Amino acid sequence: MRFDVITLLPELVEAVTKVGITGRAKDRGLIDLHCWNPRDYSIDVHRTVDDRPYGGGPGMVMKADVLLKTIRHAKQQAPQGAKVVYLSPQGKKLDQSTVREMSQLEGLILICGRYEGIDERVVQLEVDEEWSLGDYVLSGGELGAMVMIDAITRLQPEALGHNESALQDSFTENLLDCEHYTRPEVVENLAVPAVLMSGNHKSIARWRRKQSLGKTWQRRPDLLKETASRMTTDIKPLSDDDKKLLDEYLQEHCLQKQFLPEHEKDI
Ligand SMILES: C[S@@+](CC[C@H](N)C(=O)[O-])C[C@H]1O[C@@H](n2cnc3c(N)ncnc32)[C@H](O)[C@@H]1O
Repeated sequence: MRFDVITLLPELVEAVTKVGITGRAKDRGLIDLHCWNPRDYSIDVHRTVDDRPYGGGPGMVMKADVLLKTIRHAKQQAPQGAKVVYLSPQGKKLDQSTVREMSQLEGLILICGRYEGIDERVVQLEVDEEWSLGDYVLSGGELGAMVMIDAITRLQPEALGHNESALQDSFTENLLDCEHYTRPEVVENLAVPAVLMSGNHKSIARWRRKQSLGKTWQRRPDLLKETASRMTTDIKPLSDDDKKLLDEYLQEHCLQKQFLPEHEKDI
């Protein structure tokens, strides 16, 4: 998959492909990253990329003409039909199902704003979708672009050491991941759960599924509710076995469904 990133700080974005899983994915040709700096498309002597906002007010706005030139150049080099995304606090909140969808694309063009943001006409003319990292304001879209590159790269075939790793991650099947332990067996009087030491793979898988369901119920009941009511798409409703496991978890942790608000009882 190829990423084209429009950014005033290419060295920041490029750092994501220098290390770790994304670094190895780039070295192995699973992903490709090209950064395009709008400053290179500015024709005045100062290489201006921003200007004062119409209507007055603080801050500067990234100029439409320079950005349009940069995006259109990137589009010519990107795979046919690459999606153009503007990272923006006003976009929809990025989630794993969107990341999964985007991981199927051949190309993604990511626009990183700076200052007060970009001239709205760029959005109207060239942007397919706006995505946000969350309800807070960053100084620029670069961290958002890096987050997207990382999350999407993990889902490329062969990007992870074990391909099943991504299948066990949180938000796969709308569940949080179970807890993990490694050596030593006891840390400051806290022992690893006995079942994990049993060598019984069936019991271990059952325990992990139960923890996943229980943890999701405690921390993110919204995910379970979504799963329970899901009729279509790739997310299956909870099976009878899952419901049994969840009941077991609730009993073991002295949690009771009847204490749930009315609308959450039918999970
Ligand atoms: C300082 S912000 C501009 C914020 C803008 N004035 C607003 O309040 O909506 C500069 C740039 O950072 C990026 N950015 C800021 N917060 C973000 C978020 N939560 N998710 C994604 N990108 C964000 C956007 O690209 C934005 O154009």
